[in-house]
Amino acid sequence: MANTNLANAKTAKNDEFYTQFPDIQKEINAYLDYDPNVFRGKTVLLPCDDPEWSNFTKFFAQYFELLGLKKLISTSFAPESKKFKEGYMPTLFETESPLFDQDKTRTHGKIFVLDHDSNNSGRIDIEDLQWHYLEGDGDFRSKEICQLRDEADIIVTNPPFSLFREFVAWIMEASKQFIIIGNMNAITYKEIFPLIKDNKVWLGNGFNNGNAYFRIVEEREYADGVYDAETGLVKFRNCCWLTNIDHGRRHQPLKLMTMADIFKHSKHKEIRERKEFLKYENYNAIEIPYTDSIPSDYNEIMGVPTSFLDKYCPEQFEILGMCENLDLYSLKTKIYTSQECKDAYLKKFGKPGTYDLNASGVIIVNGQLEKVYQRLLIRKKQ
Ligand SMILES: C[S@@+](CC[C@H](N)C(=O)[O-])C[C@H]1O[C@@H](n2cnc3c(N)ncnc32)[C@H](O)[C@@H]1O
Repeated sequence: MANTNLANAKTAKNDEFYTQFPDIQKEINAYLDYDPNVFRGKTVLLPCDDPEWSNFTKFFAQYFELLGLKKLISTSFAPESKKFKEGYMPTLFETESPLFDQDKTRTHGKIFVLDHDSNNSGRIDIEDLQWHYLEGDGDFRSKEICQLRDEADIIVTNPPFSLFREFVAWIMEASKQFIIIGNMNAITYKEIFPLIKDNKVWLGNGFNNGNAYFRIVEEREYADGVYDAETGLVKFRNCCWLTNIDHGRRHQPLKLMTMADIFKHSKHKEIRERKEFLKYENYNAIEIPYTDSIPSDYNEIMGVPTSFLDKYCPEQFEILGMCENLDLYSLKTKIYTSQECKDAYLKKFGKPGTYDLNASGVIIVNGQLEKVYQRLLIRKKQ
């Protein structure tokens, strides 16, 4: 019970991270560099967005004219409906508005719309945002927000992590373009991976050096991220942008060395010493432990770390599947029996247990079966 409470509290906190303005700017610039008209004449929806806090709203409102937007809609989730409710205080912007309603402000979501020069300043910008309370709490799954989704061309946000699978399904069922923030683990979800494999979804341009910093509503402990008291930001190494909008970086092929050169010059000692890539026992593929060690002269299937996706160029490689239990793409050449899993555990750890060999690629090291980390199965395009 205590564990469940702890897990629930962690999940609730993981939903409340606020994205930094420069990160949004850097990401959106990558799409604009590739196609300067990507947002022109489009309706952009920013759901799950708390506009009082949100840099997404600030960014798109500030650059409304530059991007050539037709309409910007941003919606927030009611404080009372959030899993993490502590610390909510209505903002000045709310309390000073004639629309302010003490009760509704807790139980209803809000909608912010920008589509014309409401203050006659001669330009459309953040000062022209108009808001009112939603009928409901702003849950992205509600009919009200689904209607806004259907009206939109492009959906941009950092959705609640606990509902990430549902959020992606919600976008895909309406066939919308999107740019969202997720966790690298999410790319292996069985709901998400097939989209990546089939080039329907890909990684965005990405955070600076892979480091994503988020603002949090209050200082707390983070299991996966590192909190810096000075900046008030939490740093994550495993966040990514996911999208189905094209950008230039995904068309830059990865620079590769020949296998012979890798064995001579690799920065990884074990690769220089072993001088071969091991074959999996349960896949017709070789194990490549680092993305920087993918050889240029191997044309069969290779197992590579999931971080490869950040370098994935669809003109250079095809993704065939991944090493996983379900064998979604019939790539396994061997299924281990439960006795084999027990024997492997005993041999490796010297005590009874089950080594779940079917969950990953398996190599043989010093006569012993070894599971490798999560691997994608890829092949060079000819
Ligand atoms: C990770 S935060 C990101 C906020 C903002 N988009 C940003 O990046 O600055 C996700 C937000 O979604 C809200 N949320 C949680 N569940 C939701 C739901 N079912 N529908 C809509 N929003 C939800 C959370 O309360 C939180 O404010």
